[in-house]
Amino acid sequence: MGEVRRIVAVPPEALAVDTAGHPARGAPERGRVILVSNRLPVTILLRAGAPEIQPSSGGLAVALWPLHRGGDGLWVGWPGELTGGKASERAIISKLRSERLAPVILDSRLVNDFYHGFSNSTLWPLLHYFSHLAVLDRTWWESYRRVNEMFADVIEKLARPDDTIWIHDYHLMLLPGMVRERLPGTRIGFFLHTPFPSAEIFRILPWRREVLHGMLGADLVGFHVYDYLRHFRVAAMRVLGLEGEADRLIMDGRVVRLGAFPVGIEASRYWRTATQDPEALARLESLPGELKGRQLILGVDRMDYTKGIPERLAGYERFLERFPRYHGRVELIQVGVPTRTHVTHYRILRQRVEEIVGRINGRFGTPDWTPVKYIFRPISFGRLCALYRYASIALVTPLRDGMNLVAKEYIACKDHDGDGVLILSEFAGAAAELGEALLVNPFDPEEVAGAIQHALTMPVAERKVRLNSLLVRVWQGDARPWGDTFLGALAACESGADIYPPRLGERERDEMLVAWKKAAGRALVLDYDGTLRAIAPRPDLARPDRPLQQLLRYLGKLPGVEVLVASGRDRETVDRWLGALPIALAAEHGRWLRDPERGWEDMLGGQSPIWLARVTEILEQAAAVTPGSFVEPKSASVAWHYRGADFEQADLRGRELEERLGELWEDPPLEVVHGKKVIEVRVQGVSKASVLLTWLARRPPVGFLLVAGDDQTDEEMFERLPPSAWSMHVGSKSSRARLSLPDPAALRNLLHLLGEVPVEVGP
Ligand code: UDP
Ligand code: G6P
Repeated sequence: MGEVRRIVAVPPEALAVDTAGHPARGAPERGRVILVSNRLPVTILLRAGAPEIQPSSGGLAVALWPLHRGGDGLWVGWPGELTGGKASERAIISKLRSERLAPVILDSRLVNDFYHGFSNSTLWPLLHYFSHLAVLDRTWWESYRRVNEMFADVIEKLARPDDTIWIHDYHLMLLPGMVRERLPGTRIGFFLHTPFPSAEIFRILPWRREVLHGMLGADLVGFHVYDYLRHFRVAAMRVLGLEGEADRLIMDGRVVRLGAFPVGIEASRYWRTATQDPEALARLESLPGELKGRQLILGVDRMDYTKGIPERLAGYERFLERFPRYHGRVELIQVGVPTRTHVTHYRILRQRVEEIVGRINGRFGTPDWTPVKYIFRPISFGRLCALYRYASIALVTPLRDGMNLVAKEYIACKDHDGDGVLILSEFAGAAAELGEALLVNPFDPEEVAGAIQHALTMPVAERKVRLNSLLVRVWQGDARPWGDTFLGALAACESGADIYPPRLGERERDEMLVAWKKAAGRALVLDYDGTLRAIAPRPDLARPDRPLQQLLRYLGKLPGVEVLVASGRDRETVDRWLGALPIALAAEHGRWLRDPERGWEDMLGGQSPIWLARVTEILEQAAAVTPGSFVEPKSASVAWHYRGADFEQADLRGRELEERLGELWEDPPLEVVHGKKVIEVRVQGVSKASVLLTWLARRPPVGFLLVAGDDQTDEEMFERLPPSAWSMHVGSKSSRARLSLPDPAALRNLLHLLGEVPVEVGP
């Protein structure tokens, strides 16, 4: 028996927070929330010509419906296939509108190619690690793009400028990018309800670039669990070559936040229905008689191959084989809600399940005992909650599942008496939260059989402890509604600008021009790589182009203007590339300084660090085992570049290197600086900041100082600047600079602008 964490039990009632009707707390103050998903949360059926609302099945509709019901927003989605001609279509659409549901109507070809095809026969299997079932068809892809455009058309018509658009799931992965193009200032969230698989699986998709680009049109991309987020980040970095940090990616100069938001359920609604709803109570009264006192094992799923129903049945069959004493004492009810019945693999699944059920019943059944009851239709909410409440065991064993709400719903219908054991697949997102369930590998029938036996023989004290922990977790999820948390995080995205310096706007640019014009002495301190010149795959490819040389020469000759280019490169290269220009130069992160009139000066006074050979050797070893990386030796420092290497492997090796170097010297005379895909080991105390201060101290005070850089070593300069200085980050990373520009081209434009301003030369 596994170790069980003891936690204080809280009665469900004490935690009950009914979220029905309460406005979304995290929702933005202004504007409405427009929810967008392929399937609307309700399906309209015509009964005797009158439209009747039925809830749609699936976790997405269940999770989002309370949010829509409690707010004043809209929901854009597909109402399902409409049959019955134009008149009934009109009746259905008007009924939907009265519920604030805006339909996107698809013709039968699009339903086939977009819904059955690309969404459910390409993306769905791929996202759930069933890559062998994924069909790759260009016509389907084109329909997928077309339908995403249709959704964008509807949103464009409906959205007001201050609305928040929240797009859901794998059917609409291109939509965030499309909405961003049409409504650039809009706040857009995207949530994926399925797993996001390892990048190795995802990159099978021929349209992987477009799909990633589409998702990254959002300000915030949410997943159920952190693993999916990590896979997505790695895919975006590998496939698109984006820069990123743990919870964000930079896309076209925009920050896209990533977050894990495990969806919860309205636990109070399930518990109330299970304990008070007349239909549920009637069912609870009749169940003991129907089951003749047998213990109920329950499975509830959409009939999807990801849910592992045949594998579960195999586990149950194995249990009956191994433990004959339970014959006639247990019964498995398997509810299979029909879904995507036009897709071949769903039809095959149905046949397989029917065959296995027949086999088990034929093999073990007796005239008064049917080991498996199989229900292939949706069941009412009251009956569902009664089954949850009555069942001794819930078998929730998907082979892969984004979250799985059934696991949480089962728990929500229970009390503290310990009557109920959840057997849960370790491949369901819910397993990350519900660790006190009996976690199983659903692919292993022996393990499933063993877990059933364990659940049936588990002492009541253990059942209670496990169940109480699960109850607390599930009810807490209810008290902090998931949608509010996501919307709160989305609203906070804008204020995230504080660690990203704002872009230089027109107002700041005009202020800068005025300051430049007025100042008696002006200094421009500019980093080279990534600041004046775009980063190249290898350092030797980033030589200065002719326009850059002309610009620096022009600026260097302007009266009352001094220019220092401060680079991390070795002195020889800086001298060869820029030495002919009338400007000051600094090389090797401040070891060397050259004023045009003085020649190169060694800021270390000629010392040669004795550790350099040893460090170079260590870095060479790292380069030898990290394909695509290389070492750049300098006179007083050494750099290991890993831009061309697998970034995860190199990051890991980089961290190991930092530790190893730290261990070699107790009181290290060296400093390890981790820059953009480069680790540089240099003499302590010599930096770009120190050389900048030396250079400034040698000249009369300047009235205007602009310092621009893109990397970690430039941050050291920004830190030491007086408040009046203009510090400029070039790129889209977090920085201490006052302002930022997207790329070297934008900085060069600014320098042109400054250079062309008529300068009032001081006395
Ligand atoms: N469900 C349903 N109709 C039924 C039985 C169940 O709508 O006849 C609901 C169930 O209560 C749960 C949802 O369908 O809320 C299934 O969600 P889950 O996250 O478990 O899986 P998904 O279907 O989203 O893959
Ligand atoms: C899963 C998906 C949802 C989908 C639901 C039902 O929960 O994540 O997006 O709506 O299954 O599937 P269906 O194909 O009937 O909409």
